[in-house]
Amino acid sequence: MKKSITLLMLASLFNIMLYSCKTTESVDQKVDALLSKLTLEEKISLIHGNTYFTTPAIPRLGIPALHLSDGPCGVREENAPYSWESANWTNDATAYFPALTALASTWDTELATEFGNAYGEEAVARGKDIMLAPGMNIHRTPLNGRNWEYMSEDPFLTSRMAVNYIKAAQSKGIAMCAKHYALNNQEFERGTINVEVSERALREIYLPAFEASVKEAEVLSVMGAYNKVRGNYACQNPYLLQKILKEEWGFRGLVMSDWGAVHNTFEAAYNGLDLEMLPMQGTKNTYYMGQPLLDSIKAGKIDPKVVDDKVRRILYVMEMLNIMGKAEPDTTGMAAKLGTSEHAKTALKIAEESIILLKNNQSLPLNLKSIKTLAVIGDNATRKHAHGGGSTVIKAKYEITPLEGLQTKIGNSVKISYAQGYAVSNDLKAIDKSLIAEAVKTAAAADAVILFGGLNHEPGLDCEGTDKPDMKLPYGQNELIKAVLKANPNTVIVMIAGSPVEMGSWIQDAKGLLYTSYIGMETGTALAEVLTGDINPSGKLTYTIPYKLEDSPSYVLGEYPGKNGTVKYNDDIWVGYRYFDTKNVKPMFPFGFGLSYTTFAYDNYKIDIAKKNETLYCVVSFDVKNTGQVEGKEIAEVYVSELKSALPRPLKELKGFAKVSLKAGESKKLEVILDKRAFQYYDPDKKQWILEPGKFEILVGGSSDNILLKEQIEL
Ligand code: BGC
Repeated sequence: MKKSITLLMLASLFNIMLYSCKTTESVDQKVDALLSKLTLEEKISLIHGNTYFTTPAIPRLGIPALHLSDGPCGVREENAPYSWESANWTNDATAYFPALTALASTWDTELATEFGNAYGEEAVARGKDIMLAPGMNIHRTPLNGRNWEYMSEDPFLTSRMAVNYIKAAQSKGIAMCAKHYALNNQEFERGTINVEVSERALREIYLPAFEASVKEAEVLSVMGAYNKVRGNYACQNPYLLQKILKEEWGFRGLVMSDWGAVHNTFEAAYNGLDLEMLPMQGTKNTYYMGQPLLDSIKAGKIDPKVVDDKVRRILYVMEMLNIMGKAEPDTTGMAAKLGTSEHAKTALKIAEESIILLKNNQSLPLNLKSIKTLAVIGDNATRKHAHGGGSTVIKAKYEITPLEGLQTKIGNSVKISYAQGYAVSNDLKAIDKSLIAEAVKTAAAADAVILFGGLNHEPGLDCEGTDKPDMKLPYGQNELIKAVLKANPNTVIVMIAGSPVEMGSWIQDAKGLLYTSYIGMETGTALAEVLTGDINPSGKLTYTIPYKLEDSPSYVLGEYPGKNGTVKYNDDIWVGYRYFDTKNVKPMFPFGFGLSYTTFAYDNYKIDIAKKNETLYCVVSFDVKNTGQVEGKEIAEVYVSELKSALPRPLKELKGFAKVSLKAGESKKLEVILDKRAFQYYDPDKKQWILEPGKFEILVGGSSDNILLKEQIEL
């Protein structure tokens, strides 16, 4: 078995090498030929945008315009050429896919592929060439306003989901864009904040998803971040862009700036940026890599050769996309190809599998035999989230709210009443007592209650451009939840949020708790299916939920949001569960946690070590059995722990996982392969990944704090 896995890997590696050698050679020749025909002025025109989301074409050479668009949840509503306003198209309503936090909480890499395929098809239908996704920054603080757009506090989980999503989307003929490179882990002062981070944390926590996207998914573009890293703006940062991305990882695609993230012509020219997108001033000539660059070259201050590498990379991407000579996108008949029923099915599948059951005191699934009246409470029961959050603005073909989902599913047999419970307001601390009183009345009159609370995409919550002020629920929701729980203890809470919120003041009284990110156009359908038991919840947390902000590592060990323009990541590699587990701090819900309507048992643990030349593989196998009464899916998590090492290491680190579907009573054998990197750490003195000979423990379980199988190996 060991042998066949290794041979299979070598064979596919050989195929990939053969394919890329052939392609790269012919692509390079074509690119060089084109490059030699371009004037300096034309070259300069290619390395910056000409509208907010396009680059200019050079028709005499068949060089097309590049059409870019956001973002992670689907293709953004069409933008006006010279402002952030909508272009007001009537045919650009698209699929609204679940946010990447939700995708990651499925822990299903095949779903990441399905997401990428559907997403890629929508982008092609909209005539886009480069899609500005996925966002892969690490959840460092619970307060980051963009956590919901990213995937996890864990670099391995983020990498696995990102690689499949990118590969699938790019297979449809578009380029994806890994963003925001790097260390854009907060929105507070995002345009100026300087991040000081250790080399080890950079390599082990903040870069792996980018590295995997480049090396494994061959992502065709990367977007630099707004912030500074060790004193240099990320988009002009020679260490990040030239040294690591291009030299070490061999990135061949183009590096674009985040919108308006360039600050200096000389540094942008020399330090690895290839394409400058939109300065906030908004007109063409203010691009640092526009007229000022041309002037500097003409004055002999900048070597014209630096432009060649940038143009070469842009042309390389165009050749890889096969778009040379392509005319402007034809939007006739476009609407029918967007938000199709197939894509909606994909959105639904991801939504269903992403919902996380955090507490269940026999309240779920809803007992529809005894529930004749159901009170649905909370603004999030009727709120649509597609059209918010910043650059991820989706004009959704439709979005089914939780209330609509329940009405469709059980509205014929159950009398559903609704109360808003809290009002969305600019003042996050505002409490509307009359809405609470009305909700209490509605709750008391019903057999059961479902309260949909949490966050939304208003500024100061899960929204680009601002961070959350704290981890507290806004708009008096704690008061509402407590009052409703008192009025009717038969209450299930559904938290819709893309980041952690404090729940300590009422959690002990809640009978059931579901946690879910923004899960797209089929939100209501998926939630109704899970609440009624048609779908057994199988999502697991991709980030730790601490009891309170003060427990989180960026608060205890590090700094947030920084002082005098600099934020020191003294929390180092101790991000998320790496901190909570190692330092023995109990969170409210641990990383990787999620319940099911059934139960699972793990058994028959076996570890095989395979080594071929210098390449080490470890095959971990075990059985997972569904020991409950209903069909369900389990995510088995594999963690590696080094028992003794020269540098301090986390108690355990996620290095593998597998999701399996099991009928009641069914058992299946799962296999997870750990590669060499799974055992290594980054040694900043030696400037390399180190595998220390010695003892390791390989731990398998249902969450980071629920290890069910454990065995030692020696390497
Ligand atoms: C965001 C990017 C986005 C870009 C274009 C920026 O403000 O940070 O994520 O892709 O705008 O909309």
